[in-house]
Amino acid sequence: MFNYRKLIVGADTPIKIANGQYVKYVNFDNAATTPPFISVVEDLLSFLPYYSSIHRGMGIKSQISTKAYDDARESVANFVEIDARKASIIFVKNTTEAINKLSNMLYDKYKGGIVISTTMEHHSNDLPWRKFNIKYVDVDKYGRLSIEDLKYKLKKYRGKVVLVTVTGASNVTGYKNPIYDIARIVHQYGSKLLVDGAQFVPHSPIYMGDECSDSHIDYLAFSAHKMYAPFGIGVLIGSKDEFNSCNPDYCGGGTVDVVTHDFVKWASTPDKDEAGSPNVIGAVALVSAINTLQKLDMNLIEEYEKSILHYAYNSLKSIPEVKLYCDNCNNCVGIVPFNINGIYHETLSKILSYEFGIAVRSGCFCAQPYIQKLLNVPIEKTIKMMEEHGRRPGMVRLSFSLYNTFDEIDYLVYALRKIINYKNKYLAKYN
Ligand code: ALA
Repeated sequence: MFNYRKLIVGADTPIKIANGQYVKYVNFDNAATTPPFISVVEDLLSFLPYYSSIHRGMGIKSQISTKAYDDARESVANFVEIDARKASIIFVKNTTEAINKLSNMLYDKYKGGIVISTTMEHHSNDLPWRKFNIKYVDVDKYGRLSIEDLKYKLKKYRGKVVLVTVTGASNVTGYKNPIYDIARIVHQYGSKLLVDGAQFVPHSPIYMGDECSDSHIDYLAFSAHKMYAPFGIGVLIGSKDEFNSCNPDYCGGGTVDVVTHDFVKWASTPDKDEAGSPNVIGAVALVSAINTLQKLDMNLIEEYEKSILHYAYNSLKSIPEVKLYCDNCNNCVGIVPFNINGIYHETLSKILSYEFGIAVRSGCFCAQPYIQKLLNVPIEKTIKMMEEHGRRPGMVRLSFSLYNTFDEIDYLVYALRKIINYKNKYLAKYN
């Protein structure tokens, strides 16, 4: 089996735990962010001697940097399988900024229109749309998206739906949405689709496709810091025609062709949509990560991560005190949400970290409406719990990446069994 671990900066860094010993850090918090690929750091070191201002300077280094930045759009287009001549690839900070940007751009044109989001979204794919007339597609009792409800809403609001926006994969349950089927349905009703690709793009091949195909994806947003290039860049992709017809949401240096005190002619997208000095380093890092991912083959990465997920899911399922919050691990990226009976989620994540060197995230994962639904806790109870104990209902989340191993899962299971067996001792120390 290919050793993905050797590609990662700090994969085997020893860290000190509560008993003073050093253990290998086990990172099961990859949905939050991933460490960089070694190749990304090496490529940055090779590039940095040539780093300079872009789109502004005649210096040779400026020209080299400009080319690196502009060529990055080609790499991204190739990675997401879209025609670079028709698509505008806008570099932003991260997925959150990408979605806010799209929302701001569309708002000018489609104020008062309906945006259909879903109950399973990260706050970043919910809150930015609330200035529109927002509707939420429901999820079933396991938290899977209801395609029937999507169809119902598209039918009900036919002709008024500016956009349907869904996550490619949930950052809470890992459930992947059938994005190409959803695209087909959305296009049948004459609307457009944004896929929040933050949790999907690093783990599965993605095909945005061509506008002639009814299953194409109109808009895509994702972050490089979740795909081994944590250098402050994210991407928003959409059609050049659409973006050129929108005003920039943010303006300043680099966004205009002509400006006088009482006249502005905006530059074309993507320039008009990237005000200020662009993140060249981020773009070089992203291209490097894409090159490595393509060499590794996204299909193989997906297969490997699936095997890790299945192993983890089945291992946790065999522990009676563990409550899982996903129906199964089919059609999922590598995420497992769970709780242990009688242990507050944050306490459990603290014990795993301080006693075992295992990093997980706990809480609501910036997806409170979805968590409320999955936990089935009335909002009044949540508010009371917060007021009385400063705590809120939530879960513990394992999120895997290509460098996680079966041995690490075994170690987690060992840790969980130990915590369950010595629950009172751990609770006395960490609760
Ligand atoms: N959205 C990221 C997560 O789920 C930060 O952890």
